[in-house]
Amino acid sequence: MRVKHIASALLIAAFVAACGNQKATVVEEPSLKDAVGDKFLMGVALNVNQSSGVDTSSIKLVKQHFNSIVAENCMKCEVIHPEEDRYDFTLADQFVSFGEKNGMAVIGHCLIWHSQLAPWFCVDEKGNNVTPEVLKQRMKDHITTIVTRYKGRIKGWDVVNEAILEDGSYRKSKFYEILGEEFIPLAFQYAHEADPDAELYYNDYAMNMPGKREGVVKLVSSLKEKGIRIDAVGMQGHMGMDYPDINEFEQSIVAFAGTGVKVMVTEWDMSALPTVKQSANISDTVAYQKMLNPYPETLPDSVSKAWNNRMKQFFGLFEKHADVISRVTAWGVSDSDSWKNDFPVKGRHDYPLLFDRNYQPKPFVKEIMAESQSLAEEKK
Ligand code: GLA
Repeated sequence: MRVKHIASALLIAAFVAACGNQKATVVEEPSLKDAVGDKFLMGVALNVNQSSGVDTSSIKLVKQHFNSIVAENCMKCEVIHPEEDRYDFTLADQFVSFGEKNGMAVIGHCLIWHSQLAPWFCVDEKGNNVTPEVLKQRMKDHITTIVTRYKGRIKGWDVVNEAILEDGSYRKSKFYEILGEEFIPLAFQYAHEADPDAELYYNDYAMNMPGKREGVVKLVSSLKEKGIRIDAVGMQGHMGMDYPDINEFEQSIVAFAGTGVKVMVTEWDMSALPTVKQSANISDTVAYQKMLNPYPETLPDSVSKAWNNRMKQFFGLFEKHADVISRVTAWGVSDSDSWKNDFPVKGRHDYPLLFDRNYQPKPFVKEIMAESQSLAEEKK
């Protein structure tokens, strides 16, 4: 019997005793992870206020609804390895301990990424690119030090993040400029050597796009041909009301799974605001600002309904492919945490996550939990 059930049973027993012979019912709070069951892990990204224990309202939701966590920022290179000879593990240690204490699958994010990269990583003191040999050694030191520190405590690592562009070609990052395509197999090899039991993932956005799909399939297949461990492809899942096309998204799930790896939806959120194409500073007229940030107080019913329907549809797609999907992770706990409030336009009021600003589950989450409860009732 699991601890939670023992606790519930005790609660019921105590209540019955207190009420004499009167019938008493204690209703257990519904939980998303229980509703999902063993279909896939239900994950969430934590910010440092959450993993350090400060944000108690979010922590309550995290424990109740999720069984996997990923670090939103504290394991990124600029935070964890700010200078060549200095690592800072303070926040990452807190994050990993939080997951362990709560019996969660802890995911490491991310080892090699062109963004949020410490400025020293690919250049010498004069700012010139380092040689391929130097960069290989730096990558090896970085990956080995971090992965070894958490060996046996991290279920899997996002080894390389965002290396393929939407047309399927390689992003011209410093890693690519200096090492060419080889930087990817090397990163996976270093990570595997440091923790042979950890799962290893390739993670990217816009994975529904046919060009990117093809590029990623090619990459995964070539890693496998070389005998390099890769366990899953992470589809970030940053969505909007008009992208991605759900059929394209499904085709990518099927294509990635076809290479023999699992698929994960690693950074799920869906902006409810109008899609903005450019990410530059937009300081325009008041009317334009209003058009960009149309719901500063609450989401109108019609938009909320459309958003919930679309989220439910995607959730249904994940369930449909639960045989190949091993994890679905929301990119933040409640709407107030989301990066989408500041991207691609600063200071908007967005509604992209599974819980609202009052820490209440969105209607589609309530539906999922209610449906699973009534299924369970039927089976009794
Ligand atoms: C990418 C990264 C994440 C995060 C988001 C924006 O998807 O993988 O770590 O930075 O961008 O928040």
